[in-house]
Amino acid sequence: MTSRRNPSRRPKEGAEAPKLEFAGTTPYDAYVGSSTLAHFKETMTDDPGEYMFLVMSQVMELYFRLITFEWRTAQRFLREDNLSQALVALRRSRDTFTALNASWVTFKWMTPPDFNSFRESLGEASGFQSFLYRHLEFLLGFKDAALLRPHKNVAGDNYAELVAAFEAPGLYDDTLAYLSRHGYDVPADVLDRDMASAYEAHDGVEDMWVTLYERTGPTDPERQLSELLTDLAQEFSDWRYWHLMAVRRAMGAKAGTGGSAGLGWLERSLQRQAFPELWSARTRI
Ligand code: HEM
Repeated sequence: MTSRRNPSRRPKEGAEAPKLEFAGTTPYDAYVGSSTLAHFKETMTDDPGEYMFLVMSQVMELYFRLITFEWRTAQRFLREDNLSQALVALRRSRDTFTALNASWVTFKWMTPPDFNSFRESLGEASGFQSFLYRHLEFLLGFKDAALLRPHKNVAGDNYAELVAAFEAPGLYDDTLAYLSRHGYDVPADVLDRDMASAYEAHDGVEDMWVTLYERTGPTDPERQLSELLTDLAQEFSDWRYWHLMAVRRAMGAKAGTGGSAGLGWLERSLQRQAFPELWSARTRI
């Protein structure tokens, strides 16, 4: 217990206090890898703002990885007809996505002079080349074979994982297949679609969602599934919006380091909506 007279005094080592001596590194470091993370990647310049830019980019990459992990878990449970476990993973991913989006506040300080002071050192590097982000987009149904190309020489089995995600059903495909097995009328051409292509909206799927909202109440698991997917689509749009605003704030309408027109290009991609019929059906519900 901490002394009342001197609250900063640490408890003595003993039965009730944490262990202080270890033969090697701490078990915490061995588990979390903090000594690796602390010196994971050096900045290109001495500019203090660049460190924040680099670390927050890495933090977001880890969030992308975690969210895709959760979605693959949810897909596995959906394929096993275990909806309640799929919902657990989807809820975790929704809350993780909210935390990811909250990270954008850390970019608000960055004015064009701040960004300019290290931007040149990025060379052609751009978030557009993030294979973890692309994996996340593929799971949302945004598939374009050309977007595999930048990653073919990335180290390890990352490219193979990305190609596998491109060719396999996305989160929405597995949701529609699950609902079709559980009494909902999903058009056969949607269930049998070429999975290695972008998901296209279909009137029959919109009809199916209208029926689902008629048949279910707020506590029914199928309704929770549809609302969680709606949350995820919204979180994804929020990510894009926050990214766009960070870009507008830090560099205006200059061209991107990845070779795009920058702001205008990002504005156009903001229009794309994940799980389209979950939104269009709302007009009829
Ligand atoms: C103020 C900081 C940032 C600026 C100025 C910025 C700028 C840009 C620009 C201009 C593009 C368009 C592609 C190009 O480079 O030509 C882009 C794309 C992208 N950026 Fe950023 N970015 C910033 C922060 C981040 C962060 C922290 C991440 C997280 C990893 C990120 C991830 C992405 C992704 C994934 C794309 C591709 C989006 C798509 O394909 O639709 N960006 N960024």
